[in-house]
Amino acid sequence: LENGLGRTPPMGWNDFNHFHNKINETIVRETVDAIVSTGLAALGYNYINIDDEWAEQSRDKEGNLQPRKDRFPSGIKNLADYVHSKNLKFGIYSDAGRLTCAKTQPGSLNFENQDAKTFAAWGVDFLKYDNCHNDGASPKIRYPKMQKALLATGRPIFYALCEWGYEDPALWAPGVGNSWRTTGDIKDNWQSMIVRADQNDKWAKYAGPGGWNDPDMLEVGNGGMSLEEYRAHFSLWALMKAPLIIGCDVRNLKQEYLDILMNKEVIAINQDSMGVQGKRVSRKGALEARLVWGGPLSQGKFVALLLNRGDSTAKIRAYWEQIGAKPGSSVQVRDVWAHKDLGAFSQGYIEEAVDAHAIKMYVVVPKS
Ligand code: DGJ
Repeated sequence: LENGLGRTPPMGWNDFNHFHNKINETIVRETVDAIVSTGLAALGYNYINIDDEWAEQSRDKEGNLQPRKDRFPSGIKNLADYVHSKNLKFGIYSDAGRLTCAKTQPGSLNFENQDAKTFAAWGVDFLKYDNCHNDGASPKIRYPKMQKALLATGRPIFYALCEWGYEDPALWAPGVGNSWRTTGDIKDNWQSMIVRADQNDKWAKYAGPGGWNDPDMLEVGNGGMSLEEYRAHFSLWALMKAPLIIGCDVRNLKQEYLDILMNKEVIAINQDSMGVQGKRVSRKGALEARLVWGGPLSQGKFVALLLNRGDSTAKIRAYWEQIGAKPGSSVQVRDVWAHKDLGAFSQGYIEEAVDAHAIKMYVVVPKS
């Protein structure tokens, strides 16, 4: 969507993957403080987004959404002001149907203009718009209604469609939203993550500045995957230009998880100004263990990723032409997890041993 937002994939935090709708203003405030004190904010994680179950079950007499008194006693405007006072942006959640998925709060169907005005008045910068309880009405009609309502407020609001990929949103959402989900909800395990990477990959060519494929939020730090698996998760999301929305409790995060989320070189791949979604480039069937992913970056560079989905260490080879570079070209290679220059390569490929359920990731710079 050409609303000036999302020129690179959004970065930030959302409560859902960790707190599963048990959100309140204390958690949000403490999260804001942690995002700043850890240094995550300085790296670009700037959207602080609340998910489902922030509103009362019923609207007020004028039909306005009201924050839950038990969870947000100081109100949403107050919370958004706090977020803004730390130079961060505030995101909220609603649904394109009658009720949100948790069923405890009203959706915005037929209240699009009113709710958009409320959000703008509160200082909302990001809207995640879910798809539950829609009575079968087409998302192609319901989602543009909120887009127009947001536009009419005059406030720039990043518009994140959460339709889960059922109606191939990549085909119609680029003119409607700044991102669109391509998958159902991620779970904190390797299989769930890998399946989502593949589902999201299918739509690579529809992503670009202003509109991104969204394979769902990050699970890094929630504890269900090994460190190598989380590195793979983060690397694939970065390479696919997916939104990097942290989904763990950043208030008590182990350094080893922070180190993953704070890898500047991997973040730079995600935030590359050209905005081309990297792809899975070796396609030997869904069960193939050894895979190459890659694609172009700005300034004539490329990214290459070797993914071992198998259960034992394996050698994986990426040819430069697979990632879009000239076959046989002479290149410099940098390992973005080892933070090490590997030097000049003239044989036209890189081949490395990759551990089970792990990746290696490189920036490849052809010699001019
Ligand atoms: C479904 C979405 O896909 C999730 O990300 C989350 O927003 C829940 N709904 C909230 O109920």
